Amino acid sequence: MSATGLLTENLALYRARHDAYMKALLQPPVAAQRLADAMSYATLLGGKRVRPFLVYATGSMLGVADDVLDAPAAAIECIHAYSLVHDDLPAMDNDSLRRGQATCHIQFDEATAILAGDALQSLAFQLLAKPQRQINAAQQLAMVTTLAEAAGLTGMCGGQALDIKATGSNGKDITAAQLEQIHRLKTGALLRAAVRLGALCGNNVSDEVLTQLDEFASAIGLAFQVQDDILDVVGDTQTLGKTKGADADLSKATYPALLGIDGSKQLLTTLHEKALHALSLIPYNTELLEEFTEYLVTRDR
Ligand code: IPE
Ligand code: IPE
Ligand code: MG
Ligand code: MG
Ligand code: MG
Repeated sequence: MSATGLLTENLALYRARHDAYMKALLQPPVAAQRLADAMSYATLLGGKRVRPFLVYATGSMLGVADDVLDAPAAAIECIHAYSLVHDDLPAMDNDSLRRGQATCHIQFDEATAILAGDALQSLAFQLLAKPQRQINAAQQLAMVTTLAEAAGLTGMCGGQALDIKATGSNGKDITAAQLEQIHRLKTGALLRAAVRLGALCGNNVSDEVLTQLDEFASAIGLAFQVQDDILDVVGDTQTLGKTKGADADLSKATYPALLGIDGSKQLLTTLHEKALHALSLIPYNTELLEEFTEYLVTRDR
């Protein structure tokens, strides 16, 4: 990992903050305790917390206090965790290893895994709708809309549907434009939403800054899935915490299948530059987001 001190420190700080917040949410005993346990399993064991990091890092760059960012950071991670639980199900990617552990449906059972995903999705919107002291109702509604659009038909779910449709093609029957669309939707949409949620907590953030933040987020959103595809080929199962080669086994439509490893790496370089260019146009201290961009395209898990 090429992360510098500033990034390493902040990744750890925000991860711990997010995990403590989420743990407290899921701690009270409930009737459906096994479901709550599956939700904790899916959200808190392993994982990088990239999306909460983006909410905190973007918000704090714009002067927002961390406690205002706790709910949106947890909300986006709930959607992400749910997407992983469902992505691993036999009807989708049929994976047995996630974050170095048995996937949720194997550790628990399929019905519990499906319900854990469903309940995490509900929890996400419950968190965004919670009364807030420092942001107004219009900001909250904008956050609800942002997350709903990014998670549903026009975002992650839509992308997953296109991914499943293209599975078996090995990337051969689809065009570069179609593959880009799959990746932007299934993965890019939630990363964009993470940045947007952080920005929506800010006050007096100009449209110009919002636009450049979105340019940045679009670039890293696509880059994130390109690197995920590359790691499926060149990574190792132990470090990844998921089974290397799973994409090839299912003949998934991926960037390495379409462009090769070198072509995929070239695309990453282009997206890295795009992301840094957008940040250079933002009149706030973007150092942490710059370092994060470097980390995203060089990470090994
Ligand atoms: C994996 O996401 C699925 C993709 C969208 C590529 P992450 O790589 O963020 O997974 P965790 O949360 O760190 O396990
Ligand atoms: C990730 O796609 C997209 C979502 C989970 C929404 P992948 O299927 O490539 O993710 P991994 O590799 O299983 O984490
Ligand atoms: Mg998948
Ligand atoms: Mg998968
Ligand atoms: Mg993958």
